[in-house]
Amino acid sequence: MFLQGQHVLSIEQFSLEQVRALEQVRALFATAEKLEAVAAGKVTTRLLNGAILANLFFEASTRTRMSFHSAFSRLGGDISDTTGFSFSSISKGESLADTARVIAEYADVIVMRHPEQGSVAAFAKHSKTPVINGGDGAGEHPTQALLDLYTIRREFHKTGKKVGGTTIAMTGDLKNGRTVHSLSKLLALFDNMTFHFVSPNALPMPASIIEKLQAAGHTVKIFTDPVRGIQGADVIYCTRIQQERLGDSELSEHSDLFAIDKALIEGNAKADAVILHPLPRDTRDGAYDLSTDLDDDARLKIFTQAANGIPVRMALFVHCLGLENEVGKDFQPSPWAKIK
Ligand code: CP
Repeated sequence: MFLQGQHVLSIEQFSLEQVRALEQVRALFATAEKLEAVAAGKVTTRLLNGAILANLFFEASTRTRMSFHSAFSRLGGDISDTTGFSFSSISKGESLADTARVIAEYADVIVMRHPEQGSVAAFAKHSKTPVINGGDGAGEHPTQALLDLYTIRREFHKTGKKVGGTTIAMTGDLKNGRTVHSLSKLLALFDNMTFHFVSPNALPMPASIIEKLQAAGHTVKIFTDPVRGIQGADVIYCTRIQQERLGDSELSEHSDLFAIDKALIEGNAKADAVILHPLPRDTRDGAYDLSTDLDDDARLKIFTQAANGIPVRMALFVHCLGLENEVGKDFQPSPWAKIK
């Protein structure tokens, strides 16, 4: 069965063979759709009764950490977690390898976020329990890409659009933003995509990703001007400048930083564009990010996108544990559903 007992470390594990990969993604999303009512708290299930998730976050997180926790809890499982290095014995010099060998005995699934690229894969090598990458430095964020694609498909469905053949503009820090790395690789599974990579000069999409997209037959256009970059885009995927990976001095060297705001969108975006952001966005005055002056724009789907993290992450747990054929068998209306 697809994903059963496997680690989920990179979108590249979905891209070995296009047709098969798309079938797998569709199967995952079909499970997520079956779980929508559980995610929303309308029905309950005990599918993961007795199972334990180890939720290990060694870098700041709100959405990923809490949505994995909620997803596992909604499925009836229990969570054992640790946040930050200071509360882990890694701060006493314990290696990732030893930590993995130990925690693999304590849990049935492990989710891990770590500030170093490649660290989650290094950890997973020593874990006999499936490990899901919750973000490894500037590397990848595969579950974010899956929930982004889930959101794009559902929003496109409302206007009859299909993903293949559309244009996505990705804006912001494309060099250090792991979400855009994973999402580009995932969208590359579809046919005839056009990618607009819109970033300050010093923060471009890595050449290795651009080369893979072009080799797969997609069109890639590079912009530093957001006005031209968002024109014609069906999806405008905004990202934050990853200050934690740059440092203040490096940031002040960039004179071509930009924000995505109401004036820019009203003058240049398509009427049916879908505006996304993995969040967090920087809402401080003067931030070069998605502006809050767009919060009433019906094209903005950032909170729907964040909420979609629950059913998609539930589906990942269900598939990793080989339970996709059991979904729905014990659904019960939740006693508090009327109050929600
Ligand atoms: N999108 C995302 O990864 O958010 P967090 O950093 O809050 O988990």
